[in-house]
This record gives sequence, structure tokens and C-alpha cells, in this order.
Amino acid sequence: MALPKVPNPKVLVGIETADDAGVYQLTDDLAIVQTLDFITPIVDDPYAFGAIAAANAVSDIYAMGATPITALNIVTYPSAEVTPDLVATVLQGGYDKLTEAGVAVIGGHTVDNPALTYGLSVTGIVHPQQVITNAGAKPGDVLVLTKPLGTGAINHGIKQDRTPPELIAKATEVMMTLNKAAADAMREVGVHACTDVTGFGLLGHLHEMIVASQVGARVFASQVPLIDGVLDLIAQRIYPGGARSNKRYVDKFTFWHEEVPEPLRIALCDPQTSGGLLIAVPKERADLLLATLHQKGAQWSRVIGEIVAEPVGSIAVEP
Ligand code: CO
Ligand code: CO
Ligand code: CO
Repeated sequence: MALPKVPNPKVLVGIETADDAGVYQLTDDLAIVQTLDFITPIVDDPYAFGAIAAANAVSDIYAMGATPITALNIVTYPSAEVTPDLVATVLQGGYDKLTEAGVAVIGGHTVDNPALTYGLSVTGIVHPQQVITNAGAKPGDVLVLTKPLGTGAINHGIKQDRTPPELIAKATEVMMTLNKAAADAMREVGVHACTDVTGFGLLGHLHEMIVASQVGARVFASQVPLIDGVLDLIAQRIYPGGARSNKRYVDKFTFWHEEVPEPLRIALCDPQTSGGLLIAVPKERADLLLATLHQKGAQWSRVIGEIVAEPVGSIAVEP
């Protein structure tokens, strides 16, 4: 849906560049960063669902290099089917996760609705000169991903009762993990560009970054971190329609090396909930970024590729 562009010099990041959050300058040294995200249940445990929805909603603030400060709950639930206790448990999961993030929940709104959904509008702060957009990637930059892929396929398998319990536990841990440590590390080291990996999958969000930055990218498929066991699920055709439609879209600008197997191609397009940060860092600071990420606790972080000058907007996926 195309919204009308409203020229306003205080809007530092608006809707035009498909970035993670909007940025509005308040003073010479302060800008606010705003985002909103809500989701339907993906795991059966209501507390974990609340925590995942909160980690997912706050992630867009981290992806901009900002510090989240306040949040508002958005809840819809069918009051005839869902008990207030269950809703309270979802909200507790969200509240505890935001407390971990240092975010104050200062309000919200609940609507009676046929589907249970939960999420938040989150506000952050950042120095106007320290905003990290998806538009700053430069040829030669190293691409780093901070969480393993596969939550879309695993969540799809949960709905079909076909995900093994250990995979559910692993995906829940990955999705509940805040991108705070990863964001702290990238701000400390200094990077060129960042976005988080969510509904369009790794290659979809990488495409947004390279289009905004007017560059191309290479991805080393075997280096991309995956949740253990997810390729087996995908090989059994357990993955969401969104992975298929994401892949149809990325096929238009992606050159797949023939040795990259089909399940791995699907994994690179799998829609993620509360996915990791995708960071473009100058090559000379890549080792420092990796070390800082691991030291701060973003233990899944890996180098997955690099930025190239051209073809602009294209991705080459190598084995
Ligand atoms: Co995002
Ligand atoms: Co978002
Ligand atoms: Co960003």
C-alpha cells in the first residue's frame, strides 16, 4: 500500500526506504525512533508467546542503533474462548521481556476480536548522527547475521504437530532472545548498515538493504547459521507458504549456485519471527565486531557474506 509522502525535514527515516522504524528529530542531539509490531500465537506456551512478541517488537528499535525506552501493549482476544488468566500470562511474558530490555510499559489497548494477537508499539531514542539505517552498506563490507534461521519452518511444524520437542525448545530460546546484546556490540564497534531479519526472510531483508544502499551482495550459504534440524523439516516439506512466496520473489534478483541444495535455498527465504540482526560492517572491523558480539552474548553470530559494488540489487548465493 503506497502512502502519500509528506516532506518534513524532521523525519530522518520515513516510510520510503523500507527501514525498520521511523526516526524523528526532536533536538540537535536527540531523535525518537518508533515502531509497531504484533503477531498471532506461534508457540503453545502463552508466557513464551508474550516474551517472543515483545522481543520481536523491540527488535526494530535495536536494528536502528537506538535505545528502546517505552512501549504500549496491543492486545486482541476472543473473550468467549480465551480466559483473562491466559491473556494475563501473555502480558506477563511481554512485561518481563521488556523489563529485561530496560523498557517501561506505560499503557496499551485491548479489543475483543476473533483472533488472539499480541504486540507492542515501542519508542526508542538515538542521537540523530548515530542512526543506523539499512541504506549505508558499502562495497567490501562484511555481512554478519546474529541469530540462526529456521523459526518459520519450525513454527509451521508446530501448527501441524510435526516439530520435534527439542526443535520447539531451541526455536523458542532463539525467538525469546533480545537483539540487545547484538545492538550494543554493533554500536560499540561502529557499522555501516543494519536491519533485522523478519517476515521476508534473510534474502528478502538483505535485498531491502542492498537496494537502499545501491550495492549488491554475495552470501556463502554454508556459513549461514541455521537452527539444528531445520533442514530436515524443510526436506519433509514442512515450511510456511511465506517461505515459498518469499523465494518466488527473491528468485528474480538472486543467482543461485547450482550446488546450493533446495532445502537450504528455502531456509534462506524462511520468514522469521524475532530474527537476528543483519549487519554490514567495514572489513577491517569485522573481526572486532564478531569478538564483541560473542563477548556480549550474541553467541550465534556468524559472517555470512559480503557487499559488492554490482550488480546493484542482486544477490549471488554461493555454496
Ligand atoms: Co525490522
Ligand atoms: Co517490524
Ligand atoms: Co535499520
